[in-house]
Amino acid sequence: MSWSGIIAAYRPLLDVAAIEPITLLEGNTPLIPLPRLARALNLEGVDLRAKYEGLNPTGSFKDRGMTAAITQAVADGAKSVICASTGNTAASAAAYAARAELKCVVLIPQGKVAAGKLAGAIAYGAQVIAIQGSFDDGLRMVREISATGKIMLVNSINPYRIEGQKTSAFEICDALGSAPDWLCLPVGNAGNITAYWRGFKQYHAIGKVTNRPRMLGVQAAGSAPLVLGHAVDKPETIATAIRIGRPARGEEALMAKDESNGHILAVTDNEILEAWKMLAEIEGVWVEPASAAGVAGLRKAAQQHPADFTGKRIVCILTGHGLKDPDAVIQRAPAPVEIPAELHALEDAIGVSG
Ligand code: F0G
Repeated sequence: MSWSGIIAAYRPLLDVAAIEPITLLEGNTPLIPLPRLARALNLEGVDLRAKYEGLNPTGSFKDRGMTAAITQAVADGAKSVICASTGNTAASAAAYAARAELKCVVLIPQGKVAAGKLAGAIAYGAQVIAIQGSFDDGLRMVREISATGKIMLVNSINPYRIEGQKTSAFEICDALGSAPDWLCLPVGNAGNITAYWRGFKQYHAIGKVTNRPRMLGVQAAGSAPLVLGHAVDKPETIATAIRIGRPARGEEALMAKDESNGHILAVTDNEILEAWKMLAEIEGVWVEPASAAGVAGLRKAAQQHPADFTGKRIVCILTGHGLKDPDAVIQRAPAPVEIPAELHALEDAIGVSG
């Protein structure tokens, strides 16, 4: 059967207007086995898999939420949409708004958005506004302006975003035949962890699965309000996607943790970068730095509580593609070796001469 996007696939389970969906055929992303990474992390007997959300049409999981939010915006007669974004929401909103013939305005924190995301938002024709402040400042501003009713907010405060994003939990259950034991994912504004938990609970409630996962939410140490228990005024991290100090759905994230008997923990930028490198070099899966936070958090949690993880089925959500943030690689690597266009130089360079 051909794939027609997440709304068509899960329509009866979604609270979204019953019109023709605005879709780029998002969803249906692969659940990739990571046996080498499991071995490298000493995860004994663990069935480790990655839900590779970077393979969505604009390169991140936001497309699941955006097909729902923009479809609803059209049904509600909106003419324009707005969001604050660390980059991925902006690119996704811009693409879906283009298909729906809506004007799209995106607010980004100046100088803190990865190149591939900014380029996407511009390419899809959004009006891009860089604010001299953080994502949190931008979110406050778009909340204020959308309260006037002149423009529709498509950040994950918008309930249709959560409806769309919960479909990834359905796909994981459909692929495995049950919910995993653990679900590990990065947490920024906390919409996605809210969405996954809602999805798992719904599938359980309607009898599609008999279990629910424990949720492991992971924040960057310099942007960890849910771990610290208070807002962070000047969030910092290399994982710019989750550089957020006042998560809009923070309360719901903490509820997901408590209800699932899970954890929310913080990892350092170095721990994120180590996990990020391992994913690419050991498994051939290149993601943007924030997306590796779930793996870094799993590594840390499994070191602290090994018995909770041994022999379990664990899914890490890889939220965005590596191409979103090429500078994260280029700036950390030596430039490629340059040689003359001659065979002997190539033989010398790769050590097969003589
Ligand atoms: N991973 C990536 C790649 C993201 O872009 C985001 C959020 C998250 C994880 C965290 O998800 O906010 O639902 O907890 N990016 C938002 C944006 C904030 O504007 O693109 P969350």
